Amino acid sequence: MEIFLSRPDITEEEVKAVCSVLRSPNLSLGPVLKEFEKSFAEYIGRKHAVAVNSGTSGLFLCMLALGIGPGDEVITTPFTFIASTTAIMMAGAKPVFVDIDPVTLNIDPAKIEEKITGKTKAVLPVEIFGSPAGFDNIMRIAKEHNLLVIEDCCEALGSSLNGRKAGNFGDMSVFGFYPNKQITTGEGGMILTDEDNLADICISLRNQGRAKNAGWLAHERLGFNYRLSDINCALGLAQLKRINQIKAKRKQVAKWYQQALTDEHRLIVPEESENCDLNWFVFVVRLKENFNFKQRNSLLEQMNARGIQVSNYFPPVHLQPFIAEKYGCKKGDFPVTEAVSERTIALPFHNNLTEDQVNTVCRALKDCLNKI
Ligand SMILES: Cc1ncc(COP(=O)(O)O)c(C=O)c1O
Repeated sequence: MEIFLSRPDITEEEVKAVCSVLRSPNLSLGPVLKEFEKSFAEYIGRKHAVAVNSGTSGLFLCMLALGIGPGDEVITTPFTFIASTTAIMMAGAKPVFVDIDPVTLNIDPAKIEEKITGKTKAVLPVEIFGSPAGFDNIMRIAKEHNLLVIEDCCEALGSSLNGRKAGNFGDMSVFGFYPNKQITTGEGGMILTDEDNLADICISLRNQGRAKNAGWLAHERLGFNYRLSDINCALGLAQLKRINQIKAKRKQVAKWYQQALTDEHRLIVPEESENCDLNWFVFVVRLKENFNFKQRNSLLEQMNARGIQVSNYFPPVHLQPFIAEKYGCKKGDFPVTEAVSERTIALPFHNNLTEDQVNTVCRALKDCLNKI
């Protein structure tokens, strides 16, 4: 029987919520969109939440709303999902990579300053694997240098650092709701900000550049159709209502993994960093430094062949061929990112994984480790 890398967790409540929108006349721009945005802003503790059709669209709209474009540089991490970087590129700005901290796996605050130039307009840090570890230092440096912060918290819904929830660090912050996330809307995303003006611009940009409080065919800027339908919002709202239960389930699955892997000295097993309360996004173990890329890949192959889905979260962004070519990046540029990403193994992880399944995965993992 296959054990999946990720599975959505959809209850009867969520099915009912979606069906109730389907039975209404308001499939888009209706009351459930408003309710989802209001509840989400309240949960995170920010003034505005603007729903969009993906995390990627959200990040891109933040760039435009903050006036970041051609000629500007945005400092970011190469150890992330591609969209953190492509959102910068889509706006016509240049991503400037800074290596990661080997412990937090987030952008290394100590290395940010040396990359700041007269063109640097913003920092786009990512809470990788859902962890805001190190974000206090990242924010301090951004503030000292008067840089805007676009927080890519797509993976971090429900996590916090010293009691400060992810989604509270950026001038603008963006969550994603793809089905592998802590809550899903099928596809979707959410922009958070405290600035009325920035929220208004995003509301207009996601809706064909329509002017606020004007007619359906009055457009005041170049906009997009990045709306999130009320059908999606109903799913998101119902999921958000049980975020605490979801978080507890994910903590339990992580604990089972940690227990099953306590004596496994060939691996680095993730733990919640000090001062962090994690709503686990994924469970990514790493081979120790004495193993190499080929051995990791062989392990991934063996696990997948046994029907246990695993993955290599994440290959370094700066080495994706089109990015390496455009910005002249090469292997060796960001050694911490490269060393980490050559050894990661994302294990199956979702709300409803059972203890038996976790033990099956760990037994297979240990067996495969003996064979690489
Ligand atoms: C760190 C990060 N940034 C951005 C995204 C993009 O979100 P989406 O897939 O909703 O466009 C994701 C997730 O997929 C992500 O993990």
